[in-house]
Amino acid sequence: QFSPNRSFQIIGRVEFSNLKCVSWDPEWIDFEYCYLKAFNRSFKYLSLKAKLYKLPVNEMKVNFELFKRYSGYKPFLYNISVDACKVVKNPKAHPIFAFFYSLFSRYSNMNHSCPYKEDVLLDRLPIEHVNNQFTKVLPFPPGDYLFHSKWMADEINRAEVDVYATLI
Ligand SMILES: *[C@@H]1O[C@H](CO)[C@@H](O)[C@H](O)[C@H]1NC(C)=O
Ligand SMILES: *[C@@H]1O[C@H](CO)[C@@H](O)[C@H](O)[C@H]1NC(C)=O
Ligand SMILES: *[C@@H]1O[C@H](CO)[C@@H](O)[C@H](O)[C@H]1NC(C)=O
Repeated sequence: QFSPNRSFQIIGRVEFSNLKCVSWDPEWIDFEYCYLKAFNRSFKYLSLKAKLYKLPVNEMKVNFELFKRYSGYKPFLYNISVDACKVVKNPKAHPIFAFFYSLFSRYSNMNHSCPYKEDVLLDRLPIEHVNNQFTKVLPFPPGDYLFHSKWMADEINRAEVDVYATLI
């Protein structure tokens, strides 16, 4: 949802609170590292490196789900599944995907279509970048969020990446 009158909107801030990576198939994918780092008060970032053992990868489906914490995390607004190899060619055709993708695409080598031929990196995604993207769309209420992503290849769940964040 794009606000018609952004100047009257209260813009919050996003803070990362955790990053978790799980491989469901260590013979296919393994995480060399996966962490949230607070370099100093203002420079906080996420980094991960996933080693892929069955290269090249020619098919990848991703499911993105957003959860918001009430008493426990509950589904919130979005639950989308995409064929990564197709949607990345023209993200604008799928605005919700385009928004999630814009959060990390500049910082990941997975920012192109298939085939994927090398280990996957998310290289120091700064919270400041996420904040800049969020202020373009914001009307999300404050609270704790979980951004859950599932990565499937050949219809098999291979990995999950969870980003925990708080909107102040
Ligand atoms: C935090 O570290 C970044 C990267 O080195 C630097 O650009 C920034 O000025 C630092 N901020 C503070 C408040 O020290
Ligand atoms: C979200 O969608 C996926 C794929 O369709 C499904 O497996 C999952 O159960 C859904 N999540 C919720 C909370 O409904
Ligand atoms: C893809 O990511 C690299 C860094 O891994 C970045 O230099 C490049 O600009 C990105 N390309 C796009 C289209 O976002």
